[in-house]
Amino acid sequence: MERIIEVEKFSEESSFENRLRPATWNEYIGQEKIKKNLKVFIEAAKKRGESLDHILFFGPPGLGKTTLANIIASQMQSNIKITAAPMIEKSGDLAAILTNLEEGDILFIDEIHRLSPAIEEILYPAMEDFRLDIIIGSGPAAQTIKIDLPRFTLIGATTRAGMLSSPLRDRFGMHFRLEFYTPEELSRIIDNAAKKLGKSIEEDAAVEIAKRSRGTPRIALRLLKRVRDFADVADEEKILHNRTLEALEALGVDERGFDELDLRLLKLLAEAKGKPLGLSTIAAALSEDEGTIEDVIEPFLLANGFIERTARGRVATLKTYELLKLSPNIQSTLF
Ligand SMILES: Nc1ncnc2c1ncn2[C@@H]1O[C@H](COP(=O)(O)OP(=O)(O)O)[C@@H](O)[C@H]1O
Ligand SMILES: [Mg+2]
Repeated sequence: MERIIEVEKFSEESSFENRLRPATWNEYIGQEKIKKNLKVFIEAAKKRGESLDHILFFGPPGLGKTTLANIIASQMQSNIKITAAPMIEKSGDLAAILTNLEEGDILFIDEIHRLSPAIEEILYPAMEDFRLDIIIGSGPAAQTIKIDLPRFTLIGATTRAGMLSSPLRDRFGMHFRLEFYTPEELSRIIDNAAKKLGKSIEEDAAVEIAKRSRGTPRIALRLLKRVRDFADVADEEKILHNRTLEALEALGVDERGFDELDLRLLKLLAEAKGKPLGLSTIAAALSEDEGTIEDVIEPFLLANGFIERTARGRVATLKTYELLKLSPNIQSTLF
């Protein structure tokens, strides 16, 4: 079964997302601190007629990293070239991308923590000195050719700041961590998106979707899309609160936006009765890969105080025991 709150992109959905992707600062809701800083940096760079310093965004999937990169490019009136680290396998791949850039271009590398060390080595002089060092031949006859690159801006995005090597991280002039959105922010995003889709939505219906979106615009938009289907089938012009509740119920999204995998993780930890569980143990028990658990499932649960990460592993908090109506006390489970 497809997870409704899954944050990975499905190709059919990326065109839906692109259609709803904010193109201006005004449409980009929330992340106020980031917006404020970026506006200043962009203004300053433009005044000096310089390219923007390299920028790193980190945060869980679906929070608006790619969107920010696009807005920056449009504000700088720059071209943006978009790629992802897994697509850059050989040094030649990166060399080709870099030598095709023009002055002032923005290069967006998604999932930048997945670059191989050899590729990172090439990126260092490119970021620092706008220079490409190509080694030709091998052994004592090897030669290094230096090629000047245009001044470009690298925007990197990663779901895992911890996995980025420090030399790479240090070469970004600006670092921004994206935050989960409040239900108020998400309902504004939902309201705007509904309008773009040519449908209006009742305020309490938008709030209802917002509450169940795990603080994530991508999930909010996906739920909106499904709810809209229900409204269309019922021939309703406007997305109504009642219809929304019915749709959300039918989709099996619980009141906090938790789905089966969240609940299984919480239950696993709660049943461990305070014994910390390591990532690999959790992954094995849930038959999920560690990356999904760490990048997609855990951040929201951590941010909302349902789990805690200790040096020895993850533990459930009291909030989780309450949610699951379990007792944190070992004895009481005997009854
Ligand atoms: N701050 C925001 N305001 C409005 N819509 C947003 C915002 N952030 C993200 N979105 C919407 O959510 C979708 C996913 O955002 P995206 O930038 O692709 O996330 P990420 O790159 O961090 O995974 C986008 O298509 C966009 O429509
Ligand atoms: Mg993205």
